[in-house]
Amino acid sequence: MEIPPARFLVLMTVIRFCGRADASDTSPSTIDHILAERGYDRHLRPNFGGAPVVVRVSMSIASIDQVSEVNMDYMVTIFLRQYWQDIRLSFEGTNANLTLDGRLSDRLWVPDLFIPNSKQAFLHKVTVDNKLLRLHPDGTVLYGQRITAKVACTMDLRNYPLDEQNCTLQYESYGYTTQDVLFLWKDGNASIHGLEDIEIAQFDIGGFTTSENHGYYETGEYPRLTFSFRLHRNVVFIILQTYLPAILLVISSWVSFFINPEAVPARVTLGITTVLTMTTLSSAAKESLPKISYIKAIDVYLAMCFFFVFAALLEYAIVNFSSVGIAKKQASQRGQQEKPECHVCRCHDVEAHVGGLNGVSSQHTLRVDIENEAARKETSFSLQGDVKDQSQSRGTFLPPAQPGYTDGACPPDAGMDDGEAKERSPFAAAVTTMLHHLYGRRPQIKNSNNIDKYSRIMFPSLFIVLNIVYWSTYLYRRHYFVF
Ligand SMILES: *[C@@H]1O[C@H](CO)[C@@H](O)[C@H](O)[C@H]1NC(C)=O
Ligand SMILES: *[C@@H]1O[C@H](CO)[C@@H](O)[C@H](O)[C@H]1NC(C)=O
Ligand SMILES: *[C@@H]1O[C@H](CO)[C@@H](O)[C@H](O)[C@H]1NC(C)=O
Repeated sequence: MEIPPARFLVLMTVIRFCGRADASDTSPSTIDHILAERGYDRHLRPNFGGAPVVVRVSMSIASIDQVSEVNMDYMVTIFLRQYWQDIRLSFEGTNANLTLDGRLSDRLWVPDLFIPNSKQAFLHKVTVDNKLLRLHPDGTVLYGQRITAKVACTMDLRNYPLDEQNCTLQYESYGYTTQDVLFLWKDGNASIHGLEDIEIAQFDIGGFTTSENHGYYETGEYPRLTFSFRLHRNVVFIILQTYLPAILLVISSWVSFFINPEAVPARVTLGITTVLTMTTLSSAAKESLPKISYIKAIDVYLAMCFFFVFAALLEYAIVNFSSVGIAKKQASQRGQQEKPECHVCRCHDVEAHVGGLNGVSSQHTLRVDIENEAARKETSFSLQGDVKDQSQSRGTFLPPAQPGYTDGACPPDAGMDDGEAKERSPFAAAVTTMLHHLYGRRPQIKNSNNIDKYSRIMFPSLFIVLNIVYWSTYLYRRHYFVF
């Protein structure tokens, strides 16, 4: 059988390639020479002018990481493999598949595949270009590359953090339309390797599909391959980081209901601290998210918690306001009957005590002069005792054992009102009087402690109910979208 000259040359080359040749024979110039002699032009696709070249693609995924909600992208490192047949490179004489230096790809026609949805991508070059080139006897070329790309992935964060994302990786021919090149997955879904071993922080990989379609542009219809995979967000991290602190904050705001309403600083501080902490928590949670206009699931939850914390603070405002109202009302009711007497008794009382004190001390001075040194000690003790008693009486304005005054005549809590007003901060007092002027009629609450009592039940039950509604809604929506 006659061997055409070109074929003969290739055969000779192959025989040399197969290991028996010395270094000079496989030098680039020799290969250039062979390719040139065969009339090989790398600017022309295989089967130029005829049927389109079929390029079969498979890949191994080495890693997927840096899934970013803010930028809506992820990083992926892949080993991309393309197979196509170039009759011009076929050879005879051996069944061996020839692995050539990857840099030889610069001298051959290779598909102009690119990743249309990538933002950045690069080929690895350490220590040499990470490329693989293998020739099969029938002219089939295997061309492998290692690529790292940052790929856009539009995310719908409405259900965040109970969301699932559908990310894609696309391949397209840059210049050849479907009339020249066709892209196919080598083995359908089985063309994707290594996805099972991928670990992504915060995500589990749900499932994937491969599809073959076309990209339509002004310049024509281009072959396109799509690989899409599901990312299920791992909620545990966000629950620990955001939800749990928010729940604990809401619960700690309820502590206020168990504190005596008269402990103004304690309850106000607790209320304001929880509100501020809630604000910090929600701004920290939003930091890792893009500024999108729609409402996310986490926003709903944090708003709910904020509402509860704020309501607990308002509850105290109401308790305090109504308790002041009740005290004043009681005071005024009693005051209408016995106010004049009470005032008289108070002033009289103070005067009497002052007078009594002076009298006593002068008496004692006299007595001290008369009595001897031994007796003096006892007297001074008794004097101190007297003075102490009287000063205590003055402090309360009404000693209980004071003769001539009954409890009804001057009620002990009649003076409480003034005392409380002094205890409260001037601001709170001003607000109270302002509210008092604004609303002549205050709500008819018998006992302000009842508000606390109801809140102890109402707040937790409402919170539990809203939690059940929230979680069932969003978990249902999550499963609704399951892949
Ligand atoms: C060459 O590669 C083909 C396809 O991968 C394979 O079927 C064949 O066994 C290989 N030949 C040798 C000699 O390894
Ligand atoms: C994911 O997105 C791709 C491309 O938009 C689409 O073809 C595919 O059907 C989507 N998968 C799911 C499960 O929504
Ligand atoms: C690939 O997998 C998806 C989902 O598992 C399936 O719907 C599809 O039919 C598969 N495609 C092929 C070619 O096997």
